[in-house]
Amino acid sequence: MKYKTIGRTGVQVSSLCLGTMTFGNEADEEVSRNIFDRCRERGLNFIDTADVYGNGRTEEIVGRLLQDCRDEWILCSKFQGRTGPGPNDRGCSRLYLKRAVEASLRRLGTDRIDFYFIHNFDPLTPLEETLCGLNDLVREGKILYPAISNAAAWQIMKGLGISDRRDLPRFECVQPMYNLVKRQAEVEILPMAQSEDLGVIPYSPLAAGLLSGKYMSPGTGKGRIADNQFYRARYDEEDYRETVRLFIAFCAERHWNPATVATAWTGSHPAVTAPIIGARNVEQIETALGVIDFDMTPQLRTEITALSKSPPLATDRRDEQMGMFLH
Ligand SMILES: NC(=O)c1ccc[n+]([C@@H]2O[C@H](COP(=O)([O-])OP(=O)(O)OC[C@H]3O[C@@H](n4cnc5c(N)ncnc54)[C@H](OP(=O)(O)O)[C@@H]3O)[C@@H](O)[C@H]2O)c1
Repeated sequence: MKYKTIGRTGVQVSSLCLGTMTFGNEADEEVSRNIFDRCRERGLNFIDTADVYGNGRTEEIVGRLLQDCRDEWILCSKFQGRTGPGPNDRGCSRLYLKRAVEASLRRLGTDRIDFYFIHNFDPLTPLEETLCGLNDLVREGKILYPAISNAAAWQIMKGLGISDRRDLPRFECVQPMYNLVKRQAEVEILPMAQSEDLGVIPYSPLAAGLLSGKYMSPGTGKGRIADNQFYRARYDEEDYRETVRLFIAFCAERHWNPATVATAWTGSHPAVTAPIIGARNVEQIETALGVIDFDMTPQLRTEITALSKSPPLATDRRDEQMGMFLH
């Protein structure tokens, strides 16, 4: 297993992060433990969860899994999603943050969360307020590093600017969606992360299962995209289906498992620290762990990238046109 420094922290994390969204959902506690044990055997030391997964059940399971080995693992959790019916049972206010972290620590059975992510940007709370709240938690030792998921680059940069100006702990890690069909992160977030030395742990490297190829014949595949309308809508684009067809043919010619190759592709962007892998059973996690022995060369990455449509440039202006102003 390869370990990498995350952000400017000096912390060494495995180049795969174990996602736990299925724990207590598609995977019962025994299966979750088998997935966790397998990842531990292969050298993973990095785990991601959130307060909203399984309405708190997931964090409880993660807490029990880490009971005897907490210090081996770098633990990420998230807050901001709704956890109750009240107007303040969600969000990024200092008021809610305090309650959210205490509840997560209780479920996780630990005294600290290592990377604490804002799950989604909260338009109702100024970032300064949230960063001051996160600073309090760092001072209290309840979290070590603030982090942010699903945010636009300008929101992340705004946060970094506030931290710098106010001498507050900065976001050390970002968690965008990133896979062969959803490549928006390449435009702003990944270059920003390289420029600012941020850790990057992208989620959904398999496009929620789509890139395994199991949905190629309509109505046949079983899993999240078949079961969940929200995910079905997210990936319901003809361009994506075309990329999946090309990608599956590309892997089949070489006798490669597409789930392994898709995860390796996400992990091979130079800005990426560790893709977050997810599974409902041990067979699925094995395909993701195949990445450890898979050699995704820059040439291979280029060939696979060409199977999907590139997102438009951030400036709507092509590099070759820029050249005439630079030279
Ligand atoms: N920050 C956020 O907003 C956010 C959002 C989503 C996820 N996450 C984190 O990222 C982790 C990974 O995300 P993800 O689950 O969306 O990742 P993903 O890799 O895109 O999808 C994983 C899913 O694909 C299917 N799968 C896996 N291996 C397969 C195989 N070999 N063949 C066929 N199907 C296979 C399984 O679902 P089925 O069996 O149901 O098809 C599995 O649960 C989560 O656990 C969570 O920790 C964060």
